Amino acid sequence: MRRNRQLPWLRSLVTEHRLTTDDLVWPIFVHDGTEADVPVASMPGVSRFSIDRAVEAVKEAGGLGIRAVALFPVTDPSKKTPDGDEALNPQNLVCRTLERLSRACPDMGFIADVALDPYTTHGQDGLLREGRVVNDETLAILRKQAVLQAQAGSTMVAPSDMMDGRIGAVRDALDEAQLSDVAVLAYAAKYASAYYGPFRDAVGSKGNLGKGDKRTYQMDPANSDEALREVALDLEEGADAVMVKPGQPYLDIVRRVKDTFHVPTFVYQVSGEYAMIQAAAAQGWIDGDAVLLEALLAFKRAGADAVLTYGAVRAAKLLAKSR
Ligand code: PBG
Repeated sequence: MRRNRQLPWLRSLVTEHRLTTDDLVWPIFVHDGTEADVPVASMPGVSRFSIDRAVEAVKEAGGLGIRAVALFPVTDPSKKTPDGDEALNPQNLVCRTLERLSRACPDMGFIADVALDPYTTHGQDGLLREGRVVNDETLAILRKQAVLQAQAGSTMVAPSDMMDGRIGAVRDALDEAQLSDVAVLAYAAKYASAYYGPFRDAVGSKGNLGKGDKRTYQMDPANSDEALREVALDLEEGADAVMVKPGQPYLDIVRRVKDTFHVPTFVYQVSGEYAMIQAAAAQGWIDGDAVLLEALLAFKRAGADAVLTYGAVRAAKLLAKSR
């Protein structure tokens, strides 16, 4: 076996998988303040951007070859309500950001998150009635939210709320609004994970959620067959691509989804995965850049077509250097 490994040229010829910037989606946080960058303490290297700063940063990312950005708003606590009404304000932060970014960077993809958690005082992704997150009443809001985001400039909306039937509902709403070219990326197999902690810090929803959790709608980390049923339903309802989330602890799910359905499969290297790499690197315990690239390559090997990673810009710079 070592004959094929002995020389760099030979290793490169027998390489099975390669990570390129064509595979990367960069999730960013935007806030409504004037301060250009507000660092996220639990995610070293990640900041919440003002809209102006986001425009600059996205242009730079495009220059490095990154093709798409996923947007997450940091909603001012004064705008949060029990029913998340701000989600349906056409002038809300995410809509204003989409308008600016899509005009400034017409070749970049903008993926908007469809869910209510940035807007609710309880931090749940759906409407809460008598202590329960209710499904169908939430769908009615998600439909409108997706249409607003698409009208503001999102070319791919990504329902991340894990309500049942949301993909069909959103697809239907987009079509009715003459937005049939807008694609739907389903967070199809999204687990109730402890790896989302730093994200909830970044968008400020951790305090809202308090001791609550999302186990009545996000998946049980113990389950794998169930992920295939989720993906099958989302595809039937019209998803253009499906996602597995988190990433590294769920590589087996990525592989099963890809092998079963042969459809565009995205994976999300979530905030906790990113934070763990950065924390160990800061201690000098691992080489953070090398581990980042290895983790991203592992997603490709597991069958992913695209990866959402907070390290997208860093990875793009490293890939440019290694060419
Ligand atoms: C919520 C949402 C979450 C993430 C993306 N969209 C958190 C959650 O479900 O609580 C997590 C992303 C990450 O941890 O990087 N709709």
